[in-house]
Amino acid sequence: MALTGRDLVSILDFSNDEITLVLDTAEQMAQALGWEDSGEKQALAPLDCILATLFFEPSTRTRMSFESAMLRLGGSVISMADARASSAAKGESLADTARIISGYCDIIVCRHPENGSAQIFAEAASVPVINAGDGHNEHPTQALTDLFCLRRHKGTLEGLKVGLCGDLKYGRTVHSLAPALARFGCDLVFISPPALAMPEELSQKVQELSSAQPDVTDDLPAALDGLDMLYMTRIQQERFADPAEYEKYQGVYVLDNKLMKKAPEDMLVLHPLPRVDEIALEIDDDPRAVYFEQARGGVPVRMALIALLLGIVNQTQPTKRSGLMEP
Ligand code: CP
Repeated sequence: MALTGRDLVSILDFSNDEITLVLDTAEQMAQALGWEDSGEKQALAPLDCILATLFFEPSTRTRMSFESAMLRLGGSVISMADARASSAAKGESLADTARIISGYCDIIVCRHPENGSAQIFAEAASVPVINAGDGHNEHPTQALTDLFCLRRHKGTLEGLKVGLCGDLKYGRTVHSLAPALARFGCDLVFISPPALAMPEELSQKVQELSSAQPDVTDDLPAALDGLDMLYMTRIQQERFADPAEYEKYQGVYVLDNKLMKKAPEDMLVLHPLPRVDEIALEIDDDPRAVYFEQARGGVPVRMALIALLLGIVNQTQPTKRSGLMEP
């Protein structure tokens, strides 16, 4: 098991053992950040590596947490946050962009509105490429961040009952998270209006990977029973060609105090964020609502991923705190 030099385009590019290695390494990174024990930050050695972030779509969490992660690791960052300011605006292809940026950095993080763009990038680049979201296809590092938060709270990823709610058709976060959870042996409940259901091909994949067939419903209150985690997602206006279609589904699910009273006492609420109206502000103080903590975890998870792909941490077992950044 070695992640050095690999790409991360789909969550299933990594085995369960490799995902576990990322999460274990992220725990060590959280310690180095002073999250645990004494709360003291560990000084990390300077790292002579450059991360390039190429974002052809808006982002707050993913881009900034990747950049924060690289800076925390002691490395440097070059960033293209606005595609209009790049030569993509002059018609440069994705593959050519990937070839060029490979000469300027050691690892690339890319977000693009087209499905499959991350694969094109990875094939053309000569350094590791991390998919930060390609259209409505996948968002594998969000899934790693979700799994990190879930495992921290539940102590395991195995055998949990998880509800995925909202736009399952266009939601790239659930397209990465669902197969990962299924492969760890979780029971899944897909909660969406029929028109925004999980794509058939992905449902088939989840079924192949899972011990049990996912339940499918549009009834959020009824689906809460027995859940260990409810994963809320936004109905994504930007994915609808017809604004009238979006308006039909906007506000279809709103998790509020009334629903939380019906939910299990230990049911975590996660959300990749940003939220619009699907989680009422009144539940932010509910101890089960962990979405802000989830987003914060994006830094140690992405530190771990960068370090593993660059080959600067132990690949076979969780890193020792004192040996985190061997030269
Ligand atoms: N969760 C997520 O991808 O957020 P951003 O779009 O802000 O990166």
